[in-house]
Amino acid sequence: MSAYNVALVGATGAVGAEFLQLLASRNFPLGELRLLASSRSAGTTIHFKDRDIVVQDLNEASFDGIDIAFFSAGGSRSKQYAAAAVAAGAVVIDNSSAFRMDPSVPLVVPEVNPDALADHNGIIANPNCSTILLVMVLAPLLKLAAIRRVVVSTYQAASGAGAAAMRELETQTAAVIAGETPETEIFPHPIAFNLFSHNTAIDDTGYNEEELKMVKETRKILSDDTLAVTATCIRVPIPRAHSESVNVEFAGDRPSVSAIRDALAAFPGVEVIDDREANIFPMPLHASGRDEVFVGRIREDLSCPNAIDLFLSGDQILKGAALNGYQIAECLIERGLLGGNK
Ligand code: A2P
Repeated sequence: MSAYNVALVGATGAVGAEFLQLLASRNFPLGELRLLASSRSAGTTIHFKDRDIVVQDLNEASFDGIDIAFFSAGGSRSKQYAAAAVAAGAVVIDNSSAFRMDPSVPLVVPEVNPDALADHNGIIANPNCSTILLVMVLAPLLKLAAIRRVVVSTYQAASGAGAAAMRELETQTAAVIAGETPETEIFPHPIAFNLFSHNTAIDDTGYNEEELKMVKETRKILSDDTLAVTATCIRVPIPRAHSESVNVEFAGDRPSVSAIRDALAAFPGVEVIDDREANIFPMPLHASGRDEVFVGRIREDLSCPNAIDLFLSGDQILKGAALNGYQIAECLIERGLLGGNK
């Protein structure tokens, strides 16, 4: 079997750490593993399987001989260096928003739209974390009936803003419990014992960037420009795993709740937790560290004859980022879609 040389840009970050974990624990046919980060981390080592790998400073020459370059170091690094990786013969799987809405770049969730990979020109975009979790539950519903409108509200974990943001939640929580005034550096507002509107810029429409990503990316992944989507994105004091409250209005008659539950349960990567009697539904606590998107609270919307409500939780660092990127890499290998080096 072939082995593939992998570069990991952002190896010292929250998503990078998870990607390393996946490469180590799954059966990836790995050749060389090149770890790349900023000059701040260059020269440090990261333990991987039975060895220590030295982190290198990211630059134009970082991609010689690389087959797959996974980028998770922010959009500006992707914009600056993805072309160099492609020129070196690598396929880039980019976790940033830099290329997601570029019509020549496939935006892929492997369970939902793997066929889009066939059109790639060297770069594949990994969708926004909240969007991945959302389309994982919309795709099985679309097998039952056409959807007219989606209304989603998110409850997004601190770690969605990176490893430093997760540490800020921990230190602020400890400070508040100790009766001290918490310091706020990464987030614009205290995150401990609080929640606030997602910390991305708001444009003239009044929507923030995260909300608009959910609107646009959902349409692109599902290949439906007419799908009505509206989102409200909120940051909550949860270390890990995003949750979403979702209202789905079907174009015609709504399928039954039991048909919906069955379709969700049958979809790969989705697990239904919907125990009304025991009041047990998806929670970020048990979604953390898990691959699946958990879904429950599945019920008819009493206010609209063709709509349903549901609630989901999923680990946004795993399925919302590293795992989805890893699955894209697996899919590229399976379908023989790698670039110049392989
Ligand atoms: P570093 O640790 O050297 O700063 P997170 O999303 O958890 O904040 O992680 C961001 C990742 O992006 C880290 O691996 C970080 O490396 C990397 N990164 C940030 N700035 C740069 C840069 N200018 N060049 C290369 N990597 C960068």
